[in-house]
Amino acid sequence: MCGIIGYVGNRKTTDVLLNGLYALEYRGYDSAGVAISNGKVEKIIKSVGRVNELEKKVDKDNLSDSIFGIAHTRWATNGEANINNAHPHKVGKVTLVHNGIIENADLLKEQLIKDGYKFTSDTDSEVAAALLDQALQTTDVLESIERVTEKLKGSYAFGIMIEGDNNLYALRKDSPLLIGIGDNENFLASDITAIIKYTNKYILLDVKDIAVLNKNSVVIYHDGKEIQKPVQLSDSKGVDNTKNGYAHHMLKEIMEEPIVLSRLIEKYANAEDLAKLDLHDYEELDIVACGSAMYAGLVGQNLFEEYANIKVNVYPASEYRYKKKIYNQKSLVILISQSGETADTIAAMREAHELGIETLGIVNNPDSTIARECDRKILTNAGVEIAVATTKAYILQVCVLSLMTYITAKNKKLLSDNQDYSCFEKLPALLKEVLDHEEEYESIAEKLYKKESCFYIGRGIDYALCMEGSLKLKEVSYLHSEAYQAGELKHGTISLIEEDMPVLCIISDKNLKDKSISNLKETEARGARGIIITTKDLDDFEGYDKIIVPTTSMFTQSMLIVPALQLLSYYVALKRGCDIDKPRNLAKSVTVE
Ligand code: AGP
Repeated sequence: MCGIIGYVGNRKTTDVLLNGLYALEYRGYDSAGVAISNGKVEKIIKSVGRVNELEKKVDKDNLSDSIFGIAHTRWATNGEANINNAHPHKVGKVTLVHNGIIENADLLKEQLIKDGYKFTSDTDSEVAAALLDQALQTTDVLESIERVTEKLKGSYAFGIMIEGDNNLYALRKDSPLLIGIGDNENFLASDITAIIKYTNKYILLDVKDIAVLNKNSVVIYHDGKEIQKPVQLSDSKGVDNTKNGYAHHMLKEIMEEPIVLSRLIEKYANAEDLAKLDLHDYEELDIVACGSAMYAGLVGQNLFEEYANIKVNVYPASEYRYKKKIYNQKSLVILISQSGETADTIAAMREAHELGIETLGIVNNPDSTIARECDRKILTNAGVEIAVATTKAYILQVCVLSLMTYITAKNKKLLSDNQDYSCFEKLPALLKEVLDHEEEYESIAEKLYKKESCFYIGRGIDYALCMEGSLKLKEVSYLHSEAYQAGELKHGTISLIEEDMPVLCIISDKNLKDKSISNLKETEARGARGIIITTKDLDDFEGYDKIIVPTTSMFTQSMLIVPALQLLSYYVALKRGCDIDKPRNLAKSVTVE
């Protein structure tokens, strides 16, 4: 999942490209590069690491008369993160940036080497550039691009420049790419946030579309013929890059959770909107997602089954695609995705469509593929997350699933009298209380950050919370941790327990408290040091390091516990000196498989 931006027009090309790269840096930040042309001379500048490293190089190099260019920020897939593998790649007359994975690149490269091509990188993208250069020896640009795409297997979004040609070319298959429409200027970008500063008008490209951009026109070709495409209008407000005084975007976004939660809860406080979340006439739900989104699905599974009597299966999208599907009842496939561009989740959604199964997307990005293609969608409206580690978007995913459970249970007459919407309405204030206890999380982080490994254990819904708590700790602090069903640990994995190893035990369900505590004691008997995460009503633990959150209903309890775990992870990462907003090896949107 890399970020691509291209520009043709009268502005300072490097300003537009660098501004776009900063907005796209969440998609990957191993290396970055620009290719700029004034119609006669083309320059390529690349750097390893962040976009600001590239900017230092670009500033030194006088490129002021350029009129168009392409740029790229990379998340390494083929080839390590070094200067040779940084995009743009130039082969012969062709300069190209690419997002995606060309699965048959090695085979194609072998033939190109036989044909006399030499390669300077380990990337699949350079192979595509060479293929295009080879095709251009014998035919025109559009025909060459079509011939090349017929040979490629896998996913791609390309931005292309060709020596002696003042057009930009753009095309995609499975990776996101849109064409921005300006006044005497045009753009190509991986997502609208890269160009919203200049225009909110864009065209979506379909497979086999080829866009030809210059400053006065955008022409789309399909199978060699010019076609018309609708111009969409985005209401994206762009990316709020400010940290509002917080040290990191992650901390800012955690602190935004009460306000974004309250907006979502207010939106559904009326019967008409709440009714749109009702799933009572489905007999089975398949929740399909990746990473934290899947762990939100695990919370939803516990809630739906416990309170709405609906069978729920949860699958990682990367596995769902290959499993045998058995649908013989009224089923719904729920896709959960913050970015709405996760390749595995998109593939799972399209698989469900091929099977004729209805899909519902719980999505944060309204301009995304999943938001567009799902039969129904619920927008979480968390706002853009700049930090790669998701926090507020995850909490809103859980909130949507909980609201769905609540209204479904209510319509199935399964709610008890004391269960009403007020538990949701009280949640933002209670969450503010949780977030105000930073010194507690910091003191526990002090005892964790030097460790090499730890466990999160819990039963039932608490195990689902362990999964997200453990992932958050790993991805921002690089401290290894493992989430484990508390009752399962003794069946082998307990052999890993060492003296003074932290075991964080989550207990929010009073019916499971005693059993979880006995499992924690099994680890303490072998040297572990227990840390308890529980609610005020259940807290009778003496002598433990503890995180105590207010007691609320089981519909909302998880949305008080996980933010505490998010803050704990944040403080561990801070103490370990990690790059909290852009952890190593990660990217915000995984648009490759
Ligand atoms: C980022 O913090 C998450 N850990 C990551 O697993 C993410 O949830 C996953 O990649 C799915 O992304 P999506 O919600 O954009 O589909």
